[in-house]
Amino acid sequence: MIVFVSGAGGRTGQSIVPALTAAGHTVRFLTRQTTYGGPLADLQGADPVVADLGSDTAIARVMKGVDAVYHIPPNMHPQEVAFGKRVVAAARDAGVTHVVYHSVLHPQVQALAHHWNKIFVEEALIESGLPYTILQPSSYMQNTAGDWKGISERGVHTLAFSTTARLSLVDLEDVAAVAARVIGHPEHYAAIYELAGPAMLSCEDKAAVLSDVLGRPVRAAQDSLEDFRGKAQAAGMPQHVIDTRAHMFAHYDAQGLSGNSNVLRWLLGRAPATYEQYARRELLPLVK
Ligand SMILES: NC(=O)c1ccc[n+]([C@@H]2O[C@H](COP(=O)([O-])OP(=O)(O)OC[C@H]3O[C@@H](n4cnc5c(N)ncnc54)[C@H](OP(=O)(O)O)[C@@H]3O)[C@@H](O)[C@H]2O)c1
Repeated sequence: MIVFVSGAGGRTGQSIVPALTAAGHTVRFLTRQTTYGGPLADLQGADPVVADLGSDTAIARVMKGVDAVYHIPPNMHPQEVAFGKRVVAAARDAGVTHVVYHSVLHPQVQALAHHWNKIFVEEALIESGLPYTILQPSSYMQNTAGDWKGISERGVHTLAFSTTARLSLVDLEDVAAVAARVIGHPEHYAAIYELAGPAMLSCEDKAAVLSDVLGRPVRAAQDSLEDFRGKAQAAGMPQHVIDTRAHMFAHYDAQGLSGNSNVLRWLLGRAPATYEQYARRELLPLVK
């Protein structure tokens, strides 16, 4: 099939697009960069298409001749709902046969703005009349890589919420395997799948696994929300992203993020990857 993948330039797309090409699909991935030189540039079977998710005409244009759509919403984008509804409408107008929406675990939670936004896109997709599949991944194990400097240089894994708050984590490679398994397959139409990994882990739990895998001590630490805001502002993070993340950290402090891995196990036909397996595969090779 010819599969159109939006929001492909980030961490998610870098796993999803190769999984789709490996399954034999031709991928047209969306980017705003007129000369794309990102991580997917040399991938066989994947070509960039240039458009902005804010443009009706551009999205209608890139949707022509496409068999299936995999929509990845840019993370914490203020236009997330409008982008999603535009993709759904364009897919319907273009006669696309299947739309897979990369949502998130617990889009029902209003306190998490970037989760709650996704419920409106899920609603638009369900009511579009299109064959659809909604994937709801929990927090990626791969988010640890964003703190690699502190882990590798100082032996400290730092998050801006309690070191004992437990989150359901999923290996993004397992999510990508599911993406390749469901797209274009009618037995997965009209389905909503929660994709959670095998365990709920705190920062302390992760630090213990990292100490073992990396062969050096790693401890867990908590940044205050004030420190997080200061560092994020200094790094140039947009204010709405800082606010959304700060609310997310406060929510994790109070609630954690709970998920059940039964559906993922069934879809994969095997046990979902553990945090240790992820760390051995992706972090251990980074140790100098
Ligand atoms: N991180 C997690 O643990 C997790 C877990 C579950 C679900 N999710 C969800 O996964 C989704 C993707 O997250 P991510 O971190 O992979 O994405 P991301 O890096 O924020 O965004 C992906 C790409 O979207 C493109 N983009 C941004 N604005 C655009 C626009 N106006 N028009 C067209 N393209 C635009 C950018 O590519 P170009 O620069 O090439 O245009 C960007 O690289 C999010 O919605 C998030 O909520 C994340």
